[in-house]
Amino acid sequence: KPTFSQPPHVDWLTGAFSRTPLLRKTTRLADLSGVFADVSGWRHADPQQVVYDVEMLDTPSGSGELFTGVTHLYPGKVGDEYFMTRGHFHALREQGEVYFGLRGSGLLLLQDEQGEMRLEPVFAGSVHIIPGFTAHRLINTGTEILSALAVWSSNAGHDYAALAGGFAWRVVEEDHQVQIREVQNG
Ligand code: PA5
Ligand code: NI
Repeated sequence: KPTFSQPPHVDWLTGAFSRTPLLRKTTRLADLSGVFADVSGWRHADPQQVVYDVEMLDTPSGSGELFTGVTHLYPGKVGDEYFMTRGHFHALREQGEVYFGLRGSGLLLLQDEQGEMRLEPVFAGSVHIIPGFTAHRLINTGTEILSALAVWSSNAGHDYAALAGGFAWRVVEEDHQVQIREVQNG
């Protein structure tokens, strides 16, 4: 006889999970040393300012399992550069991921191992197939919270160090417009 169990619930409008055990990670400006171009702007900003929260379903890990999480990326800038996630390759490079835009507006920055880059707009209902061997970063170019749901292989892992040189392009606000700027001297 099958057992009956209540699935987790996500509010598609806000990305809020309810009635389920969650893992939560908050990333503040203080945690993002070296991530924003404007070092002096970063130093003078409130280090306790929350840049993004990630909430994950507390589900099994291990080969073949999938993780599900929502990133809530707050609006803001350091200097003229929009708030963004740190960004990463997966430790298991071949592992892809799917992002679903839920609310707000922003960009998904993708960069492969050859340094080839791509940007996709993120908005409520957008679906992003992140291929393997591709670093990914969310950027909030709007004035509201940008929330995106992600599903990825639980053994993919995060490799932040491989991107220590950073992404080759930055997304900034210039003359009240979203602009991309090539990073000088790496
Ligand atoms: O799995 C993912 O790609 C996301 O859940 C990210 O981990 C999340 O958006 C936070 O970004 P980062 O891990 O680059 O700090
Ligand atoms: Ni990822």
